[in-house]
Amino acid sequence: MTILVTGGAGYIGSHTVVELQQAGYDVVVVDNLSNSSEVSLQRVEKITGKPVKFYKADILDREALEDIFAKESIQCCIHFAGLKAVGESVQKPWEYYYNNISGTLILLDVMRKHNVKNMIFSSSATVYGNPAFIPITEECPKGEITNPYGQTKGMLEQILTDMQKADPEWNVILLRYFNPIGAHKSGMIGENPNGVPNNLMPYITQVAVGKLKELGVFGNDYDTPDGTGVRDYIHVVDLARGHVKAIKKIEENPGLEIYNLGTGVGYSVLDIVKNFEEASGVKIPYVIKPRRAGDIATCYSDASKAKRELGWEAEYGIKEMCEDSWRWQKQNPNGYAE
Ligand code: NAD
Ligand code: UFG
Repeated sequence: MTILVTGGAGYIGSHTVVELQQAGYDVVVVDNLSNSSEVSLQRVEKITGKPVKFYKADILDREALEDIFAKESIQCCIHFAGLKAVGESVQKPWEYYYNNISGTLILLDVMRKHNVKNMIFSSSATVYGNPAFIPITEECPKGEITNPYGQTKGMLEQILTDMQKADPEWNVILLRYFNPIGAHKSGMIGENPNGVPNNLMPYITQVAVGKLKELGVFGNDYDTPDGTGVRDYIHVVDLARGHVKAIKKIEENPGLEIYNLGTGVGYSVLDIVKNFEEASGVKIPYVIKPRRAGDIATCYSDASKAKRELGWEAEYGIKEMCEDSWRWQKQNPNGYAE
C-alpha cells in the first residue's frame, strides 16, 4: 500500500515515515519545506535503510499535486502539512486560513478526482477548548477555540466530516493529538523549531544546551496540584505508531472515526522540569511569569477508544520522553542546520 504523507519532513511526519517504512508501507512525501529541512528525510533513510520518495511541493499547488497523483499509485493520505504556531496565527490569520484550509481543500479535490478517498488527518486537543470534562473522551463537546490555528483544525474536522457524510466512499480518521515531545531513539530526528521555541520541551532542551538562559513558567496560580499547567505529553514515536494503526483501521472501511492520541496522564510544567533534570543531569533554571494568553489549566486524554478500536496505546513514559528529547538536542544543538 502506498501512503501519501503531506508535511512528511516535519517533526511528527518524519517520525511517522520511519514507522510506516518499518511496517512495510511505501511512502511518498510531499512537503514545501516551509518549516522543515530535507535533511530530516535523509536521516529517515539512514534509520530505515529504505529510500524516501520526496516531492518538494506545496499542497496549494494543484498542478504539482495532480502530477504526483498521476505518477504514484496512492491509496491513502496522512495529512500533516500545515502551519502550527498558535501565537503566529493570531498575528497572521489570513496566512493560516489560506495555507491550512485552502491547501487541504485542494488536496481533497485532487484526491477525489483520483478516487483516493482514505484520509488520516492531524487534528489536535485544541478543538476541545477549555474542556468540559477531564479526562477528555472523544465525546467531549468541542469548545471555544481561542486562536486561528486552532480554528483551522476545528473547521477542517467539519469539512472532512461533511464530505464523508455526503460520500460514504470516504474513510476519514481524525486523530486528536495531545502534546507530542521526545524524539527517535537514534537521536537522528527530532523537533527543530525555527527561532525561539513556543512549546515547553524544545524551550527546556535549548536551556539545557545553553542556547537560552532560563525557562519562563507561564503561571503558577492555576487550579492544579502545583499551580502550573497540566498537559498530556506523548512520545512522538508512540504518536507515529498511532498512525500505522489508523492505516490498518482505514483498510476496514470505517467511514468516519475520531481518536484521541494521548497517554491519559497529566504532568505539570514543574513535573516536566524535574523529570528532564533527572534524565539529563542538567539543571534547568526557571522563573515564574504571568499566565500566557489562551492557556488552560488542565488538559489530558482518555485514550481508551484508541486502545479498544485500534489496538494502540502509548508505550513510553515521561522518562523516555525526556531522555530522547535530550539526546536529540545534545547531538544536534542546531537542529538540522549543518
Ligand atoms: P511541522 O511544522 O514540523 O510539520 C508540518 C510540515 O508541513 C512542515 O514540514 C512544513 O514544511 C509542511 N507544510 C506546511 N505547509 C505546507 C504546504 N502548504 N504545503 C506543503 N507542506 C507544507 O509540525 P508538526 O509538529 O510535525 O505537526 C504536524 C501536524 O500535526 C500539523 O498539522 C500540526 O498542526 C498537527 N499537530 C501538531 C501538534 C504539536 O504539538 N506538534 C499538536 C497537535 C496537532
Ligand atoms: N509553558 C511554559 N513555558 C514555556 C512554554 C510552555 O510554562 O516556555 C507551559 C504552558 O503554559 C503550558 C505547558 O507548558 O501549560 C505546555 O505548553 P506548550 O506550548 O508546549 O503546549 P500547549 O498545550 O500550549 O499546546 C500544544 C500545541 C498546540 C496543540 C496542543 C494540543 O502547541 O498546537 O498542544 O494539546 F493544539
